[in-house]
Amino acid sequence: MEKKQYQFSFEEYESIEALKEEDASLLREAQKATDNAYAPYSRFRVGAVAILANGKKITGSNQENASFPAGICAERVLLSASSSLYPDIPIRTIAISYRDDHNKSDHPISPCGICRQSLLEYELRMKQPIRLILGGLNGNVYIIPEPGSLLPLAFSSEELK
Ligand code: THU
Repeated sequence: MEKKQYQFSFEEYESIEALKEEDASLLREAQKATDNAYAPYSRFRVGAVAILANGKKITGSNQENASFPAGICAERVLLSASSSLYPDIPIRTIAISYRDDHNKSDHPISPCGICRQSLLEYELRMKQPIRLILGGLNGNVYIIPEPGSLLPLAFSSEELK
């Protein structure tokens, strides 16, 4: 038997003000993107904004449905939009924010398991990591350089060959 270890590293910033201006501005856009969420069931609004290698920006927000499982997370709304509009252009960075109806939002949230799987496949397809900037309306901010690292021992298209 051999014990294996997995290393995961990310950056933590005290607040949005501690970020580089370009990153802070993308996170502010993600905060704003929560306005477009359709979340009448959970009342939890998530906003995401990506900057692509060609400089274009794409926005996503969670879109729920009365048939609950039909709802889609902000991250996958964004990936689908990006892939539909710019199928060959890699995403450089995605900022993700959230809030509830009372604007409670004081720490970073990170993508759910399904979104981690989708982000990983996007990275593998484009052969480029997607930096993630995670932050609420207030509080500390995380930057994750390679979200593939959020999903150790991931299933991928390699298995289907
Ligand atoms: N949600 C996202 O949009 N992204 C995440 O990473 C976590 C959860 C959405 C799904 C649902 O509409 C609401 O937040 C509550 O789970």
